[in-house]
Amino acid sequence: VPDHAGFPNPTEHSQQAYEPESDFTSKWTRADAMQMKAMSDPTAPAGENSMPEDVTMPTVPQDFPDMSNDEVWVWDSWTLTDGSSDQPSYKGWEVLFSLVADRDLGFDERHLYARLGYFFRKADIPDDQRPENGGWTYGGLVFPENDVTSSSTAIFEDRSFSHYTQWSGSTRLMEDDKLRLFYTSVAFFRDPVTNADTKPYDPRLVQTEGRIFADETGVWFTGFRDQHELLKADGEYYQNGEQNPFFNFRDPFTFEDPANPGETYMVFEGNTAVPRENRACTADDLGYAEGDPEAESLDEVLESGATYQMANVGLAVSENLAMTDWKFLPPILSANCVTDQTERPQIYIEDGKYYLFTISHRGTYAWNIDGPEGVYGFVGDGIRSDFQPMNQGSGLVLGNPTNLNIPRGDPFAPAVGQHPGHFQSYSHYVMPDGLVQSFIDTIGTSDDFTRGGTLAPTVRLDIDGSNSRVDRSYGVDGLGGWADVPSNLAANVPSTP
Ligand code: FRU
Ligand code: FRU
Repeated sequence: VPDHAGFPNPTEHSQQAYEPESDFTSKWTRADAMQMKAMSDPTAPAGENSMPEDVTMPTVPQDFPDMSNDEVWVWDSWTLTDGSSDQPSYKGWEVLFSLVADRDLGFDERHLYARLGYFFRKADIPDDQRPENGGWTYGGLVFPENDVTSSSTAIFEDRSFSHYTQWSGSTRLMEDDKLRLFYTSVAFFRDPVTNADTKPYDPRLVQTEGRIFADETGVWFTGFRDQHELLKADGEYYQNGEQNPFFNFRDPFTFEDPANPGETYMVFEGNTAVPRENRACTADDLGYAEGDPEAESLDEVLESGATYQMANVGLAVSENLAMTDWKFLPPILSANCVTDQTERPQIYIEDGKYYLFTISHRGTYAWNIDGPEGVYGFVGDGIRSDFQPMNQGSGLVLGNPTNLNIPRGDPFAPAVGQHPGHFQSYSHYVMPDGLVQSFIDTIGTSDDFTRGGTLAPTVRLDIDGSNSRVDRSYGVDGLGGWADVPSNLAANVPSTP
């Protein structure tokens, strides 16, 4: 463990596994997250990255090709998954599910109008023979829009919602051609004039079953008629709208645990279930070793406003084969007084180790904590562990090139002097062999930037225990193909060639 002068040491974590049903919640502590500032070069000049290269995504060029040929905005994306960390193709086709929105909307308006869309492309084509934009065909919406109005929104008892939107999830390929699509169904209640919430928004985790078809012309679906509501934030483990109208509850990802055969689990984004005004962080959330001269006092943290940042990663277990009944378990990770969002969590199992990856924003960190937009990783011996934050105890795995000495600005208004890659991509999703896909948000400087809405170049991580580094030999200087989201195994290969 490095000893950075002027910075506290990270918390010790054993990686020890606990029963999934037990109530041990691992803590990503302030002492851990503080290691990001400790790694940052305080002398990095304006426009340059202050973070170590090994945890920095290579800079993405500003003139990017669009994967949908200007049909839709594209952001959070995922493939077919098989419940382990694998990504099958289907009958020779790679299939990609994405949040999409109409290009007539401003890019930042997309969250309120998102729909599940999909793309397909032939598997097994060498990268250098694909078109520059990844060679995907946009298949349209997953649910025909008239079905959405009749069935997707039916779960909302209060019919007065002003907006209905579909947020992230994951898609399981079950036996044969059966799909289970998990996603977040969200109703917003906004005043038409002021656009203010008239009551808290209502996100729910939903599953729907469909079938996948493919022939030589492409991929299509049927089904997805019954929308099964799985979980609503309970206010006990997972903060709800009464406790905090700005709570986060979304992004279901399901998987099987080899250590608990026959069970299906789900991780998702949540917040610690306390009323927003409670100052609920403890000395354990800070995580400083006794006598650490650089430790903060609990009082100063409680006074700082950091108690508004209370993210967690939730766990639930399925109670029936159809995966329509789920039971909440206690969260597997909390980031109390560290960050307010641990989004799109996923479990990635490799070499007997369990990796929890989750994305977070620079702008959701608590007072006096700083780190880039990117993906964060935690490793342990089971799905519930005393997770070790990767890379010098910090948690940072792959951040956008960022100068932590300079303010962040916003994707629609980058800060003067910030690195042009600060908001280059987000929603980094770790795939087999350490490949990482993400979507382009904003590339460029305060006076010259381009908004995104398509997938970034795929990059690769070398993952070794609790360490990772960006593979700069992958693609061109570490940047692989645009929107290159490959399958790593073949399902239902047609019997006739
Ligand atoms: C910032 C963000 C997302 C979230 C959305 C809610 O992009 O906070 O993390 O899904 O806005 O509107
Ligand atoms: C991540 C995210 C997800 C959410 C979606 C909403 O980019 O914030 O957590 O499902 O975007 O647009």
